[in-house]
Amino acid sequence: MLSSPGRHGVSSGEIDQLRERALHELQEVTTHEALAQWHARYLGRRGEITQRLRGLGSLPADVRPQVGRALNALKETLETAYAERERIVRELELAARIEAEAVDVTLPGRRPAIGTLHPVTQMIREVTDIFAHLGFQVVEGPEVEYGYYAFDALNIPPEHPARDVWDTIFIESDQKEIVLRPHTSPMQIRVMERRKPPVRVVVPGRCYRYEAVDATHEWHFHQIEGLAVDEHITMADLKGTLAEFARQLFGRERRVRFRCDFFPFVEPGVDFAIDCMFCRGEGCRVCGGSGWIEILGAGMVHPQVLRNVGYDPERYTGWAFGMGVERLVMLKYGVPDIRYFYQGDLRFLSQFERIPI
Ligand code: DAH
Repeated sequence: MLSSPGRHGVSSGEIDQLRERALHELQEVTTHEALAQWHARYLGRRGEITQRLRGLGSLPADVRPQVGRALNALKETLETAYAERERIVRELELAARIEAEAVDVTLPGRRPAIGTLHPVTQMIREVTDIFAHLGFQVVEGPEVEYGYYAFDALNIPPEHPARDVWDTIFIESDQKEIVLRPHTSPMQIRVMERRKPPVRVVVPGRCYRYEAVDATHEWHFHQIEGLAVDEHITMADLKGTLAEFARQLFGRERRVRFRCDFFPFVEPGVDFAIDCMFCRGEGCRVCGGSGWIEILGAGMVHPQVLRNVGYDPERYTGWAFGMGVERLVMLKYGVPDIRYFYQGDLRFLSQFERIPI
């Protein structure tokens, strides 16, 4: 070791200081970047140790070996310390990365956006569910239908003025008349043709009409048909069934009303109304001031319709009903315009709560 400050700027004290400083700084290094800087500062080509070793040549020959040894020893010390620190820094950086990338399982998760069922689908399920619990089977039928089922068998002969009530979209055909069904009633015929009484079915489905679209008319919409045929079926059964249905859907306190109406496939025909749930019968904008809201058409199945499917009208009686699904949703949720249903606007559609699928 050198004993006293050398004349040539390298004393043992100075080398000790240099060692202290370098080792101290190395202790502070926690990243590879800082480590590289440290290495450049002391051991790099322009580093302090390297510079000093290069300067050895200008030292007087008598001190040169001693200083050289001291510097080489320092260099070795620093290189060993550097290697050791490098190992620590690698561990520190790994630990920091693991911490940064760790999943915080206590954070509330992000909910995936789950869609809602279309309000019309929800209503179809709600209504068919009510009827299913009343003993009705749910069946579906074709949207493209023969004129025979859509009209003739339902007691609406060709040229009959009642045929104009259903503004029908026709499919071009050389043979039998084919239409997009304007109502779900054709399924009454299809069901009865295929089975014997007792029959109790509800039929949800899409319908089409050649219609100018406005707030209450769409050229396609949904209906739910109902049909019950058996021995001794009466209008009282119809009224009781529909009242129960209306009360399950619109509230137990609903009052119900039958009034005469005409549909070719029923006799007598009725329209079925409930007291307005917005004003409770007082009269308001929704019920047009009448206090009543008509929700469906119904009646006793016409004997001719029973005959058309081979049922004996002397033995069997029955009733049928048909309702518009969009209208039910509009009434239940106060939707002012039927066109909202088919514009695919999520601001509208996502307002309908999700019912369990
Ligand atoms: N099919 C009729 C319509 O589209 C609704 C209807 C009325 C159906 C009376 C019926 C019924 O089953 O008995 O307007």
